[in-house]
Amino acid sequence: MKFFLDTANLEELRRGAALGVIDGVTTNPSLIAKEGRPVEERILEICGIVDGDVSAEVVAVEADRMVEEGRRLAAIHRNVVVKVPLTQDGIRATSILSREGIRVNVTLCFSPVQAILAAKAGAYIVSPFAGRLDDLAANGSELIRSIAEVYRIQGFRTQVLAASLRSPLHVFEAARAGAHIATLPFKLLDMLFHHPLTSKGLEKFLKDWREVFPEPPAAV
Ligand code: E4P
Repeated sequence: MKFFLDTANLEELRRGAALGVIDGVTTNPSLIAKEGRPVEERILEICGIVDGDVSAEVVAVEADRMVEEGRRLAAIHRNVVVKVPLTQDGIRATSILSREGIRVNVTLCFSPVQAILAAKAGAYIVSPFAGRLDDLAANGSELIRSIAEVYRIQGFRTQVLAASLRSPLHVFEAARAGAHIATLPFKLLDMLFHHPLTSKGLEKFLKDWREVFPEPPAAV
């Protein structure tokens, strides 16, 4: 499963990329607006930090306008994946852009049948939102599992991107459900590292070492 960072913040992206486990980036209009920079400028900066798929979302709501905006976003950098919402216009735009060879991430997916529509339109990625479903007492991980299963059975090549993840358990469940990609806010990526027994274990190893070897080892 690939890890993407779900942010448009350059500092978070630099810190995440330095860890060596980040394969791409997702943004959405809320995340871009939060940074207050023009979308073209910010997406280009992101592409300079992370060498992988970078999703940039259209804000047009009508198919022809989405296609125009999608072409403009795709022209920013070869790694840009155009993100389009799962509406009738969005699916029409996905089918046009995909036939032109532009890769599309169909977002705001909340059901397996919506995911089938995205795949049929030629989407490169579909983004089911696990956390927002869980907020309504539905089961986001189950949605990811169902989509991954139906894509496997039907031979669809669209990748399943687990979005709206809020906890380490969400990340584990996404991997277990067969998601190809999980997109994580920086805070969640950081949470994946922590376990009290790791910190406690390391503390003890170093204490034992220093009791016998008080000087730090010579640099090689
Ligand atoms: C990513 O592509 C989505 O836009 C994002 O994961 C949504 O997350 P949220 O539900 O926490 O806003």
